[in-house]
Amino acid sequence: MQAAYRPIRIGLLGAGSVGSQVARLLIENREELAKRVGAELELVGIAVRNKNAKRDVDLPRELITEDAESVILGSDIVIELAGGIEPAKTWIKMALNAGADVITANKALIAAHGSELTALAQQFGAQLYYEAAVGGAIPIIRPLRASLAGDKINRVMGIVNGTTNYILDQMETTGASFEDALNEAQALGYAEADPTADVEGFDAASKAAILAGLAFHSEMPVEKVYREGITSITALQIETARQAGYTVKLLAICERAGENGEGLVARVHPTLIPLDHPLAAVRGAYNAVFVEAESAGRLMFYGAGAGGKETASAVLGDLVSAAKRHLAGGPGLGDSTHADLEALPVQAIFTRFQITLEVVDQPGVLASVAKQFADNDVSVETVAQNAGTDSDLALLTVMTHSASEAALERLVAELAKNSSVKKVSSVIRVEGV
Ligand code: HSE
Repeated sequence: MQAAYRPIRIGLLGAGSVGSQVARLLIENREELAKRVGAELELVGIAVRNKNAKRDVDLPRELITEDAESVILGSDIVIELAGGIEPAKTWIKMALNAGADVITANKALIAAHGSELTALAQQFGAQLYYEAAVGGAIPIIRPLRASLAGDKINRVMGIVNGTTNYILDQMETTGASFEDALNEAQALGYAEADPTADVEGFDAASKAAILAGLAFHSEMPVEKVYREGITSITALQIETARQAGYTVKLLAICERAGENGEGLVARVHPTLIPLDHPLAAVRGAYNAVFVEAESAGRLMFYGAGAGGKETASAVLGDLVSAAKRHLAGGPGLGDSTHADLEALPVQAIFTRFQITLEVVDQPGVLASVAKQFADNDVSVETVAQNAGTDSDLALLTVMTHSASEAALERLVAELAKNSSVKKVSSVIRVEGV
């Protein structure tokens, strides 16, 4: 094929599971990609930490180098797939400073330093793309940046971590404990040897910060994202939820908050959702992002949230966009923070809660518990009573109406002081009702 323009030079930083697939697809699909873009995409270098490391894919040896700087400075478009904050941040800044467009899948970096990098890109007339940073193969960044740019988004709720979704799903379907399900996730390669980033919700919190910023045209510092992981979820909680018609998911939720919607709350925590909610159908290690927009209504974006080949698809989508912009010139897709909604603490939200209490099974106890709910302005919707762990104990499962998080915190502190309450066994927020 006769391309109208000189080849666009592509530099790749990192050749792990995603990077090696990007390189493979770039090489295998070279002709087709050239036709789509209108110019050849020439992979000019692959920077790696160790040239001799074993890789999933056979890559051209002459392209592999340990000199990242020469790859960056010799490229029109730089694809950063090394991960982590440093040296990835220094590399991206170097590329943007040189006027190269940058594509990254680095959610931790974008969540922590996205504004700084976007400002730098604007300063140098370059563009930063990060479709692969949230939801792997799922197109969600571009829909928020572009397709929904004319709408008003009210809420985004996502299952954005496949490892935790796999673990919760296993616990639900097999009755396994958290530890057993985690071991299985590790054996299958979903969970890392150190699973902290996934099971404690850090990975999902980074993704929540990115989604919140884009959906609400505001800055959401990752340290302001409320975060609870799934390590204390028990098979009994999941079973109790199921009997009541709910499933437990680790959700990343971003929504307007504050008295006049002047603020924004992003939170990650285990959440009960009704079994007939579209997110309840997201099983195994899959991801999905559910968007509620004023005009578009309810939308769900679903697919593989991780995986080398799958994530490479999102990277190549960004690459085609970046390459077309490179040829056409002018600004690409920009992010605006003009709405400037204030990042509020989780206490600013209203939601429903399921609270499980172990109480002494004696006359008057239910009334005393009910009074504490009323005194703290938390309205009860339903109460179910089952036998407790001892014959003189009862297990109360209370579903509340929508209540403020702040009121709920006060209530739980009061319940813990009630001598008839042996234990506040579980407090889980309920969404999607
Ligand atoms: N650890 C992530 C997950 C992979 O489990 O979803 C991609 O961010």
